[in-house]
Amino acid sequence: MWPFLLLLVTLLLSTAATLPSEALNVRGHLLKSKTFLSPAIFLRPGSVSNKIYFDVAFPKGHIALKSFDAEVVDEHGVPVPLHETYLHHWVVEPYYIPKGADAAETKLSKIIPRRNSGVCKTTLGQYYGLGSETRHTATWVPDPYGIEVGDPVAPPEGHEEKQWLLNVFQIDIEYQVEKCSSEDRAKNDCVHVQVAKQILPRGGDIVFGVAHQHSGGIGASLHGEDGRLLCESVATYGEGREAGNEEGYIVGMSTCYPKPGTVTVSDGEALTVVSNYSSERQHTGVMGLFYILVAEHEQQSQL
Ligand SMILES: *[C@@H]1O[C@H](CO)[C@@H](O)[C@H](O)[C@H]1NC(C)=O
Repeated sequence: MWPFLLLLVTLLLSTAATLPSEALNVRGHLLKSKTFLSPAIFLRPGSVSNKIYFDVAFPKGHIALKSFDAEVVDEHGVPVPLHETYLHHWVVEPYYIPKGADAAETKLSKIIPRRNSGVCKTTLGQYYGLGSETRHTATWVPDPYGIEVGDPVAPPEGHEEKQWLLNVFQIDIEYQVEKCSSEDRAKNDCVHVQVAKQILPRGGDIVFGVAHQHSGGIGASLHGEDGRLLCESVATYGEGREAGNEEGYIVGMSTCYPKPGTVTVSDGEALTVVSNYSSERQHTGVMGLFYILVAEHEQQSQL
């Protein structure tokens, strides 16, 4: 098997440039989509591949990202199902390199990652990233927002930016789900509920939300300090053999797109993630992540 990762990025160009044929004019901006193919990833049955690609030819310049979708395909461009190649995760992260350094030669030890501004940025610094649910999980950033990258004033002293910047917030739980007891089974209560709290440093409007879970996950919810529901994201399982519908795998997570201004969080608010897994069987190393995009109230912070 020689799978490739196909990434489709949609971005907004804020200045008029030469119009590419696929460009759309959205509210006076140019919306453009590009598809990138990774190098071939060589796998034998039972092998694991964990690759990091530097200096990826993603669009450069001061732009806003609107969506980022991925697909695992074979050498003919045909989607590969998860039971043939399990996509554990893919993440996209921008980084800086020392000025004048050769981008192709600059490795992990020399780069400065540009992390998102979320509460888990030291462990989960990525700007975009999903796992097996990639095929049926929306990544679109609702209008009028976009994820800003390539701001020319941003690089640290002596460095230049290669890619990306944004405002993703993530809350992480990684734990073990034990098989439910026979008493619980008799009561039809084989759901494991894990709860985690995080303080959100800066508030604003939640404009997008999605959870990430592993097989066995049922769904997760995010709550404000007073317990109000901010977003609920539910897992969809496949029922067949084909790519995007693989039985027993999470093939999609539902997303939240609250109308801006309707779901707000405040500076320093304690948020709670509730992650539910089926405990019909034991599950090890499961995850309960919640990604949210928070649009800050600019006018208020200027006052
Ligand atoms: C999680 O489980 C609790 C308790 O069973 C339930 O009240 C809640 O609705 C569940 N949430 C999700 C997202 O599945």
